[in-house]
Amino acid sequence: MSLIKEQVLQKFQEIFGAEEGAKAYFAPGRVNLIGEHTDYNGGHVFPCALTIGTYGVARKREDDRLRFYSMNFGELGVIESSLEEFIPGGDKNWTAYPKGVMWAFEQKGMKIPSGLDLLLFGNIPNGSGLSSSASVEVLTGAILRDLFGFEVTNQDLALIGQFSENKYNLVNCGIMDQFAIAMGKKDNAIFLDTADLSFEYAPIKLEGAKIVISCSNKKRGLGDSKYNERRSECETALAELQKVVQIKSLGELSEAQFEEYKDAIRDEVRRKRAKHAVYENQRTLKAVAALKAGNLAEFGELMNASHVSLRDDYEVTGIELDTLAEEAWKVPGVIGSRMTGAGFGGCSVSIVKDEAVDAFIQNVGEAYKKKIGYAADFYVVEIGDGPRIL
Ligand code: GLA
Repeated sequence: MSLIKEQVLQKFQEIFGAEEGAKAYFAPGRVNLIGEHTDYNGGHVFPCALTIGTYGVARKREDDRLRFYSMNFGELGVIESSLEEFIPGGDKNWTAYPKGVMWAFEQKGMKIPSGLDLLLFGNIPNGSGLSSSASVEVLTGAILRDLFGFEVTNQDLALIGQFSENKYNLVNCGIMDQFAIAMGKKDNAIFLDTADLSFEYAPIKLEGAKIVISCSNKKRGLGDSKYNERRSECETALAELQKVVQIKSLGELSEAQFEEYKDAIRDEVRRKRAKHAVYENQRTLKAVAALKAGNLAEFGELMNASHVSLRDDYEVTGIELDTLAEEAWKVPGVIGSRMTGAGFGGCSVSIVKDEAVDAFIQNVGEAYKKKIGYAADFYVVEIGDGPRIL
């Protein structure tokens, strides 16, 4: 038995009594390699699941009570609720995520027959932009499926997770995070077309290089970020473009078409937002083609260009993420580096040659601390599988 599995089962027993009937589960976190803020614009994304994520232990109850405990928020103790207490937007702590998924199952016609005791432990840094919340959502879905025998596929778990985030937690996120987590495959990234959810796995064979995550330690929550604002800016820009060209989403435009029609967007800021969405989608297509052709250098350059566009046109980076990326670009042996996830804090992702990883952590770490005043954290990560019973 893995050490973490043993630890979570033991903690479950300590908090909820005898562990009889309790089962352990895991769902990963995710990192997006390229294709940022394209998933709600009908574009492509290229994320992968990680080997770090969320562990859960769950057991059915005889009554309709819900008892939750998170080892990451131990100070909150056991949080009690019930199957009668689902209030969209109403929970003020982390239980909003598992409760949101339970609520979403019921909204989709899958009545949850009894309460449960649920213990969670995440080894993804919270609020880091590696999707700890989507990881909890997919994990909860996988637990409900297993405990109560609901017939749902992993792709359904992704859609239910997104639905719960949109309608219960009131964040208008796209499908990328939940999809990357629910459909994760070891050593593969997922090339997903968010317009129709068609996808393919692309092996990530980084011979002589590693994926390094740099965590800014600037906390953010999607809800209090400008995420929803960016989304509506894109919607308005799309409506303006639709007056001159027949498209369903920004993802349908090539760069040349965007340049041809962009004057229909009446506001300069909105034009920049839409430009990012169109160009980032095209960059993602080019990046996957480069990877398939074995051209990692080009993939890295496209990652760098993605960051510049998120910084200048989409304006979701901020000094912390800019410092992480800009200092990374200076280090010899860095193939590419960019912010990942929603932005406004969180993490960057870099592809770094094996022999340069130590210097990368040293140089970027020192420069970051000097400029920002507190330290960043660094993780060399691996690409892992989707949710599973342990
Ligand atoms: C967050 C959202 C995703 C996606 C990214 C930006 O992670 O949950 O749906 O929009 O931001 O690419």
